[in-house]
Amino acid sequence: MNPFNYISIAQGDNFFDRVEETKRIVETLQGGNNLVLLAPRRYGKTSLVFRAIEQLEQIGISCVYFDLMPVYSLESFAELYLQALYTKLSSKERLIQLIAALKSIRPKMTFDAFGKPEFGIEFVEPKVSIATIAQLLELPEKIAQDGKRLVVVMDEFQEIRKLHKFGLEALLRSKIQLQHHANYLFLGSKTHIMQDMFMDKNKPFYNSAMTLQISTLPERETIDFITSRFAASSIQISEQQCRYILSRVENIPYYIQLLCAEIWQYMMPDLHEVTNEIIDTCFTRVVELKSDYYFERTDRLSALQKRLLVALTKSGQNIYSADYILRNQLVGASSLQKAVAVLLDEGVIDKSGNTYSFCNPFYKQYIINYAS
Ligand SMILES: Nc1ncnc2c1ncn2[C@@H]1O[C@H](COP(=O)(O)OP(=O)(O)OP(=O)(O)O)[C@@H](O)[C@H]1O
Ligand SMILES: [Mg+2]
Repeated sequence: MNPFNYISIAQGDNFFDRVEETKRIVETLQGGNNLVLLAPRRYGKTSLVFRAIEQLEQIGISCVYFDLMPVYSLESFAELYLQALYTKLSSKERLIQLIAALKSIRPKMTFDAFGKPEFGIEFVEPKVSIATIAQLLELPEKIAQDGKRLVVVMDEFQEIRKLHKFGLEALLRSKIQLQHHANYLFLGSKTHIMQDMFMDKNKPFYNSAMTLQISTLPERETIDFITSRFAASSIQISEQQCRYILSRVENIPYYIQLLCAEIWQYMMPDLHEVTNEIIDTCFTRVVELKSDYYFERTDRLSALQKRLLVALTKSGQNIYSADYILRNQLVGASSLQKAVAVLLDEGVIDKSGNTYSFCNPFYKQYIINYAS
């Protein structure tokens, strides 16, 4: 089996380092504060949070993990939120009691093909109202008041903005503010939106949580991890080559594992020593394997968005300067702003300070090839 994993979150032996960060998360939540975890895409936020959840549960704090990615309506919000609560709570009867007390929602148990009971809900009202959602948002505090502290983790939290027109962001903020037994941990993969939500003083979540910014994994530990994983398959890799891998994928944890997985696959079972040429070959193979997808993704872009991406392969600084615009034929600043916004929203690029960069080093290479 390939010893490198990028398909699912890193858990157990596949997870390394992040000791300080885990401790900080556990202590902050244990201390009764809310926390927002900020980092660019694919840095290992969800994996880190799962590690912290394990430790919180060991000290008797229940953690509810709610992934907002599939949320697209108030109904789906209600359903998925309640499911997340139900899955994690030990006192399921208590939750069912609390739901039964709400006028507009009824708990409903069904049975799957194997006869296993499944939790669901039924709406009494034709459309879930914001008043019902407000009641749901009070549940964590009610459950926690029974004596057991509760942490609610909201992953892909930026997706709450899909329900912007209902004022859900402000509603949630007003509810959690009043809760003293339940705490919240927020994280999300669209960094620029998360930053906007928590750092802009005109937004409801401003100042609502402590902030933890995580960076890439430390080089030393990453090199040790890569070396030992290859060694277990009798493949040697030098420190210099490990560094070369890190530089090719800009140190991003997910892409490190993706490239290593490809290298491992390429070398098994006959090759035993990683070289820079092998690293380059495998890097190119990943770009080629994904090229259909990259082609479609690029094809959908406007001419200006494409020119912007090509420009970003060279530099992501001062992109609104007259010189940058002229040099890269990016015409009017307002259309450029729109192009930037679309690429940020689609998760193609990320913004840190005033610098823009590709989220995916393989796609960046695709664009370099495309431009030449
Ligand atoms: N601590 C870690 N140890 C080992 N590998 C890690 C670690 N953190 C992240 N990774 C690698 O990065 C991959 C992505 O991790 P994860 O899904 O947790 O990131 P994320 O920041 O939540 O991503 P997204 O921005 O897409 O939500 C993992 O599958 C794993 O390969
Ligand atoms: Mg994640």
